[in-house]
Amino acid sequence: MRLLVCGGAGFIGSNFVRVRLRDHGDEVVVLDKLTYAGRRENLAGLDVEFVHAGIEDPGAVAGAIEGADAVVNFAAETHVDRSIAEPDAFVTTHAVGTWVLLEAARQAGVRYLQVSTDEVYGSIEEGSFTERSPLAPSSPYSATKAGADLLVASYFHTYDLPTVICRGSNNYGPRQYPEKLIPLMILNALHGDPLPVYGDGLQVRNWLYVEDFARGIGHVLAHGVAGEAYNVGGPDECPNLEVVRRIIELTGADESLLTYVKDRPGHDRRYSLGSEKVRALGWEAQVRFADGLEETVAWYQDNRAWWEPIRSGDYRAYYARQYGSAIKD
Ligand code: NAD
Ligand code: DAU
Repeated sequence: MRLLVCGGAGFIGSNFVRVRLRDHGDEVVVLDKLTYAGRRENLAGLDVEFVHAGIEDPGAVAGAIEGADAVVNFAAETHVDRSIAEPDAFVTTHAVGTWVLLEAARQAGVRYLQVSTDEVYGSIEEGSFTERSPLAPSSPYSATKAGADLLVASYFHTYDLPTVICRGSNNYGPRQYPEKLIPLMILNALHGDPLPVYGDGLQVRNWLYVEDFARGIGHVLAHGVAGEAYNVGGPDECPNLEVVRRIIELTGADESLLTYVKDRPGHDRRYSLGSEKVRALGWEAQVRFADGLEETVAWYQDNRAWWEPIRSGDYRAYYARQYGSAIKD
């Protein structure tokens, strides 16, 4: 297949591209705006065509989609805390960008897969969301992602565009930008910096190793029914505090680094996805959280050249704004 992968220079997109080249021999065009979270280095050594543009740019998208069999859209602003501080780009990329991509797919008659998130369902104290659960997003991030999902569904219903939506739970693994819980805690632990736990730390997330999500997306692309959404959840859930304690153990950091900080406004308590529908297509998560976390810590320990430039750049200003003090060297 020839795939147009939007947002392919980010964390999950670049892992997806790796899996497609390695296991499927696809031809891949990556279109990416290279925001703070997108990096050409994430695609180093991979045989892909690269287009530097935003998905909200109709001309660039029309050119990039030529000859594609399918569009897979990862392109997004993805950090909840940033959406609370500055929602603008979230609205533009998720609403306008998704619409531009859908229009281009419609004009070109190309299949469309939207990468979405469990956060569109909101928080759930017990049990799990199914694909029939109502959308009840809490943050500007999840609200604009839910808006994008509805736009995708409308293109199926109105124009018969063959669309599918994949809603993933919390991903972790190599090349995740260190604003997210796991890489942030790993790098802070390695540097002896405080480990900032929001609120009481008892919020629960359902952890999915990034290659498992990449394979799940491939499964839905190959076998999903047009017009449908598929939840892709991880095999294990874990309260944040326990995640941080495991990182302390794996890095050998001092437990006194654990620091309770002000909670995230509107913080969702728990996410949980029922993934029976994607399992019926033949997908199963392969990596348990305990193993994946150990591998992820090892990856960050072994790949300083990947994260050192990030920690010395704009990230420092972001970190100071978000956490109230700069990172120590
Ligand atoms: P990321 O922040 O690491 O990467 C996002 C990528 O999109 C970057 O390469 C960035 O440059 C690019 N991008 C941003 N705005 C763009 C625009 N307007 N045009 C083109 N490119 C643009 O994000 P990620 O964690 O890899 O997430 C990828 C997708 O998966 C997102 O749609 C996200 O909502 C979804 N998702 C993420 C998770 C998770 O736990 N990280 C879980 C479920 C779903
Ligand atoms: O559930 C899928 C979603 O997972 C994706 O759609 C999002 O793109 C992705 O960012 C992620 O959202 P979360 O808000 O769950 O992830 P984050 O890593 O920001 O936070 C995970 C949990 O850890 C959450 O309860 C907040 C908490 N946290 C996070 C940070 C960054 C802390 O306690 N301290 C922190 O410093």
